[in-house]
Amino acid sequence: MKTRVYLGENSYDILIENDSLSDCSDLFTKYGRVLVVTDSGVPEEYSKKIMSCAKDKSVLFVMPEGEENKNIETIMSICKFMLEHNFSRKDCVCAVGGGVVGDVAAFASSIYMRGVDFYNFPTTLLSMVDSSSGGKTGVDFENVKNILGTFYQPKRVTIDPTVLKTLDKRQIRCGLAEALKMAATFDEALFDFMAKSDYDDNDIGIIIERSVELKKTIVEQDEKEQNIRKSLNFGHTIGHGIEESGKEGLYHGECVAVGMVAMSSGDAKEKITKALKRIGLPTDASFDQRKVLKTIAHDKKATANGRISAVTVETIGKYNLTEMSIEELSERLSSVKRSR
Ligand code: GLY
Repeated sequence: MKTRVYLGENSYDILIENDSLSDCSDLFTKYGRVLVVTDSGVPEEYSKKIMSCAKDKSVLFVMPEGEENKNIETIMSICKFMLEHNFSRKDCVCAVGGGVVGDVAAFASSIYMRGVDFYNFPTTLLSMVDSSSGGKTGVDFENVKNILGTFYQPKRVTIDPTVLKTLDKRQIRCGLAEALKMAATFDEALFDFMAKSDYDDNDIGIIIERSVELKKTIVEQDEKEQNIRKSLNFGHTIGHGIEESGKEGLYHGECVAVGMVAMSSGDAKEKITKALKRIGLPTDASFDQRKVLKTIAHDKKATANGRISAVTVETIGKYNLTEMSIEELSERLSSVKRSR
């Protein structure tokens, strides 16, 4: 399947095709050099596939795995590497990895010489269904997530679902959390499908395609997150707070799962909780409530005049953009605090 994201001169295709990682030589004919950025946790075979498509034009940069390396020092290392290899605007950068690699490589691409072409080859389900498209780039700074970054669209996103065979099941579940987020806010039919699925390869293929279509539609309407795109933060404000201050070392998608339960109500809360349990994701967590609230209150993107921007869901397939007092948020947080 191929779909196009229409953003004027920044339009691009998203290709979803088995084995597409081994079949991308055509992308590179117009470039002099190709920088492949990956991390130490991504199986080498994937960056090797891209490098063999780019042949002797390619150079490899391997960053250490982990969110803690999503920082400005890594950006400077990539830019230094590009400078040492005489990269110019006639060259391009490819990210091969998950959300961290994509955000970092795209950020470096957007600032080096005021922008060199960027290609994304996501290798996690989470990056396939959400972060690899839409053009958000960024790093964490001074303990604030994604506070430095740019909007910079890729020239193409290439999704090869066969790479998921090497992804651990916990990471698959995290990707499903982000897909369920889009279903809960926009697409009741996808939600019902996910709520009954056994998440085999065929179903995951359908979930990827539908999520990519939803993300495309949202980004086309609101590239710079002024309104509708804010809905993609459903579960993320509380999720980030738990991720930063929680006690259990939960992954990002797991924290978002708990955040979605907190920010939903009524029938939707029941359905979301049931679907998350079916996937095998947590619906509550153990955390220091004061610490989580403090983290959220310091989140400059979520807070204005002491009120917190929030996305809530009362009916599956529909979202509300609202603002909450810290007291209301605290109440919602209490509802997902594990009681032992
Ligand atoms: N991952 C949320 C967004 O791209 O807006």
